[in-house]
Parts: sequence; structure tokens; C-alpha cells
Amino acid sequence: MAGYTSLAFRLCVRQNGGLGLATTDLVNARSILEGRRRAAELSETCPEDRPIAIQLYGHVIAEMTEAARRMVDQGATLIDINMGCPVRKVVRSGGGSRLMCEAEAATRLVAAIVLAVEPVPVTVKMRLGWDAQSLTAPQLAAAFESVGAAAVIIHGRTRAQGFSGTVNRDGIRAVVEAVRSIPVIGNGDIRTLADADRMFRETGCAAVSIGRGILANPFFPRQLDRWARTGDPGPDPSFAERLDMMRRHFHGLLLRRGEFYACLQFRKTLKWYAHFTRMPKPLYLELINLSQASVFDEVLARVEAAGPTAPLPGHADPRIPVPAGPIDKW
Ligand SMILES: Cc1cc2nc3c(=O)[nH]c(=O)nc-3n(C[C@H](O)[C@H](O)[C@H](O)COP(=O)(O)O)c2cc1C
Repeated sequence: MAGYTSLAFRLCVRQNGGLGLATTDLVNARSILEGRRRAAELSETCPEDRPIAIQLYGHVIAEMTEAARRMVDQGATLIDINMGCPVRKVVRSGGGSRLMCEAEAATRLVAAIVLAVEPVPVTVKMRLGWDAQSLTAPQLAAAFESVGAAAVIIHGRTRAQGFSGTVNRDGIRAVVEAVRSIPVIGNGDIRTLADADRMFRETGCAAVSIGRGILANPFFPRQLDRWARTGDPGPDPSFAERLDMMRRHFHGLLLRRGEFYACLQFRKTLKWYAHFTRMPKPLYLELINLSQASVFDEVLARVEAAGPTAPLPGHADPRIPVPAGPIDKW
């Protein structure tokens, strides 16, 4: 998830256990080729960060194939192509969900990337279609399978829906029914085991992909994995585990990106951690304008000493600010 799922965060979630595959934020293929610092930061990975999908966006075949090759050299376990992003900057340039309107061009793009990085698997992340009148995901998934895509990940909304409304599981099922044998991975609004169970049952998908639900509970993969294997998710993470996750996340950011960035980035996720750990409000307020690592450590020690102020929730409120208003203005 652009802006949230840094390498530091992925490493923490992996340590928590149960994670099958993680994906980087979307990275612009051209920016990789131009050697831009931002692209390097977004696609940063390391040997402990495996298996990892590096997600590319763009629509120019030569750029996408060359960027994909470089990402494989950098350690990508698989290359994921973004055909779901709804924001204007991405779709205006012909990438993201815009590709769902160009079946032939999108299929040529997938075919070229498959050839360029063979035998590394190539997957496509997409929505159900551009809008309710144009639900192209089933047809596209079948076409991508025929040119060698290894799997598709379907967010059960259209581009026109943005992040509003609810996920359309029938739409995901239509994709499952359209492909021959590749796995279809169901995505959207999965926060609890019951949500995951429903996604599996109602769509017939082979796996689930989770975005915001991981920020709401970074231990969710561990619980899902255990539940899938044994039928029992095991206990919720303890207070100590939740605080430890917060510390590892902050210190991972600090180590990789320095104090200024770590503090800024951490402020973005603080609200969920505050809810997830039920820390006392005055201590939350001390962290809200965090600008020094020493303050983080000192306040966390006090959070630990104080203990939770209420029973710990299974997951935090996962409301992430997403663009609002007319979608063509995003
Ligand atoms: C802030 C934010 C950033 C996102 N960035 C990406 C991205 O870079 N690539 C991508 O494929 N999807 C991205 N998504 C979409 C999510 O991966 C996911 O498809 C969507 O949020 C629905 O799933 P969820 O309810 O589990 O979050 C993003 C979503 C949010 C809220």
C-alpha cells in the first residue's frame, strides 16, 4: 500500500509469522530506469524480505520489461503489474486501472513482461473493471492466463467506486470461473477471520490478499495461517507483542531512513497503534508530533509501565485516509 508498506514494516510483519507473500508499493517503471531515488526507496528489499513481489506500473512495454528485469536482478521473487490504481496521476499516464480498458494492449504488456523475466512469475493486480458498465476483469484474467501470467489478484471494486461501497464477491467469483487453472487471489475489506472465510467460500479464490487489515492488526497473517492449517487462529497478540511490534517498526524505519523520516512516517500509523495497544491518551498525545527517536523510546517505556487502559481489541480501526470526492479529481 503506497505510503505505508515500507521495507521496515514488511520485515516486522514477517517476523510476526504466517505471511505468505508481500508486495512493495507500486513503483513507476520509468522512474526506475531514470534512477530516481524515490523509486529506489520504494523498491528496496533485502534477503530477509522474501518472498517479495515488486509491483510496477506503467504502460510502455520497453520500460516495463526493462524495469522488471532490473527488479529481478534486485531480488524480486515475482513481478506484479498494477492495473488497479485509480488515482489520476497514474491513470492519466495510461497505467493502473486505465489498462483495464485496453484489453489488447494490457495483454501484450503482460506477455512481454512474462517473456522478459522468465522463469520468474508475473502476476497482475486489478479491480473488477473501470466501472459497473465495464466489468472486464474476467475476460482480462483469461487473456493474461493465456499469455503466461502466474496469478491474478482481484480487488472487488471498480475504478469508479474508488474505495467506497462494499466489495463485490460475485465479481471476484466471475474471475475465478473465467480462468482455467491459475490462482485467483481475492482482495478487499478483509479485517477478520470471518471476512477471510467469506471471501474463500463465496468466491472460490485460492488465496486472499490483505491491505488495510494488516495495518489494523500486523499479526493477522499469523492468525490466518494458523487458522487455515488447524482451524484455530490461536490467541490474539499480547500487549507486550503489540508494543514490541511498534518498537521494531519505528526502529526499522530509523535504521533505514533516519530520524526525520522515521518520525514523520510513524505519525501516520500512530493512530492505529494507539487503538491497538489502548495506550493512555496523554501518552498518545505526546507521540502525535513525534520528532525525536529518544522521545519515542521514553514514551513507549511509560506506555509499557501504564499498561492498556481497556481490553485489547482484535484489530484497530483500519480507517486510512483515502481520496474522497469525484474520482476523476483524485
Ligand atoms: C493508502 C492506500 C495505498 C494503496 N496502494 C496500493 C498500491 O500501491 N498497489 C496496489 O496494488 N494497491 C494499492 N492499494 C489498494 C490495496 O492494495 C487494496 O487493493 C485495497 O485497499 C482493498 O483491500 P483492503 O481492504 O485489504 O485494503 C492501496 C490502498 C490504500 C488504502
